[in-house]
Amino acid sequence: MTVNFILNGEDAEVQTGANTRLLDILRDNFKLMGAKAGCRSGNCGVCFVIVINRENSRESGRVMPSCLIPAFHVRGREVITIEGFSQNNEYQDIIEGFSQAGVENCGYCDSAKILVTEALLEQTPRPSRQEILAAFRGIRCRCTDPESLVEGVLAAAETRRRRVYGRSS
Ligand code: FES
Ligand code: FES
Repeated sequence: MTVNFILNGEDAEVQTGANTRLLDILRDNFKLMGAKAGCRSGNCGVCFVIVINRENSRESGRVMPSCLIPAFHVRGREVITIEGFSQNNEYQDIIEGFSQAGVENCGYCDSAKILVTEALLEQTPRPSRQEILAAFRGIRCRCTDPESLVEGVLAAAETRRRRVYGRSS
């Protein structure tokens, strides 16, 4: 089947089986390796991408495990991977916030953590600690201690407010 969707802001088309997983399409057809192939069963989060459905705001802008998303599901939707997101100012806010808080990374699930942070701040610009911890529940990270991650997200949110509004608020 032919699947047309928007990938990192550009029109994309792929010929694939209806049930081929988005993770494999990204890695094999588009050579985007930021989403990692971990458990392939929705349990580790390293394959997260952001999926936007302009026709249904309730399911829009969420991080989803690309290892579970069949090709037909992305038809007409937008997909953002870390490669696309890293071109934005919003990405720099998160990098700066994580760096300020000393968030430790081995690199394995960086992209997932960054995209989860983006999806959270997009919906909830001033998240509570509980909301931050809940947002990261889907990622199995061996390196980052939860407290520094919370501080990193709070610092990223503050950095973003300063950039957007010219002051902290
Ligand atoms: S590879 Fe583990 S959730 Fe997708
Ligand atoms: S950054 Fe190392 S496993 Fe998450």
